[in-house]
Amino acid sequence: MLPKKNPYQPRPAKLVEVIEESPTIKTFRLIPQEEFTFEAGQFIELTVPGVGEAPFTPSSSPFEKEYLEVTVMRVGRVTSALHNLPPGVMLGIRGPFGNPYPLEKFEGKEILIVGGGVGLAPLRALFLTLVAEKEKYKKIVFCCGARTPKDLIYKESILEKWPKEYSDKVCFRVTVDQGDENWKGRVGLVTCTLENLEEEIPDVSQSIAVVCGPPIMMKFVTLKLLDEGYKPENIYLSMERNMSCGVGKCGHCMLGPYYVCKDGPVFPYSKIMNLPNIWG
Ligand SMILES: Cc1cc2nc3c(=O)[nH]c(=O)nc-3n(C[C@H](O)[C@H](O)[C@H](O)COP(=O)(O)OP(=O)(O)OC[C@H]3O[C@@H](n4cnc5c(N)ncnc54)[C@H](O)[C@@H]3O)c2cc1C
Ligand code: FES
Repeated sequence: MLPKKNPYQPRPAKLVEVIEESPTIKTFRLIPQEEFTFEAGQFIELTVPGVGEAPFTPSSSPFEKEYLEVTVMRVGRVTSALHNLPPGVMLGIRGPFGNPYPLEKFEGKEILIVGGGVGLAPLRALFLTLVAEKEKYKKIVFCCGARTPKDLIYKESILEKWPKEYSDKVCFRVTVDQGDENWKGRVGLVTCTLENLEEEIPDVSQSIAVVCGPPIMMKFVTLKLLDEGYKPENIYLSMERNMSCGVGKCGHCMLGPYYVCKDGPVFPYSKIMNLPNIWG
């Protein structure tokens, strides 16, 4: 029998490309030096040598075997150091950790994806998973928002490439809080993309919703979805808590009785709706 891999031991991954998505968000393409697979919704711990490690959800397609991408917003020590790295350096990855989106429950249904800011990262991995087997799903409605057009990540894919490529199955609703002289789309908070949803999803009580974004956005989107008739068990949220071990040992990531790293990070709203302070 092969020895079990040590979950605390980072494995080398070479940074090969850095893509600037917005003034504060970059996508990092990594080539793991050992075989690495994940499912959409799971996360990794990424080590910047000499600085530390932090959790991120891969944003590339799980079907992509050559490389792995993470999309990272610069907020503090590890993320700032990462943003300053040039291609060519060796990083470390641990994982994948946590539970993925339960795709078997999505089959045959209309899927609503709602994302904001860097919360679009796990949703890109999910979207690319769904469209790779799009015959399994009835329809995909992708709603997303950003503060301004400059802050919208995966811009080319969301505004041009994907709507053309998947026009038979997917519909996009994109908004910004504040437009600029070139913006021709919606202006308003991401909840405005959920107006008149019945035009795309006639019976929301049978539909699945997947939401990821800043806590305040997830809160208001969830309330709106419930108001529209979504069932709590059909709303999937990606929860974030401060993390350390990633494997359910240190207790840093408690959410009520749950460890976000082990029992999440994807939770159906029904599982956590009665816990205090779930929105952080
Ligand atoms: C499961 C999971 C998946 C994540 N996926 C992504 C992703 O794909 N892209 C992305 O940009 N970010 C993601 N995050 C958030 C990311 O882990 C934090 O932004 C990062 O740990 C900050 O590290 P830092 O050293 O740069 O900041 P620090 O110097 O540690 O702190 C800067 C600020 O960020 C806050 N912070 C620190 N750690 C976290 C954390 N884990 N969650 C929330 N706030 C935190 C601190 O309270 C402080 O306000 C994810 C977090 C979790 C738990
Ligand atoms: S990060 Fe250690 S228990 Fe979750």
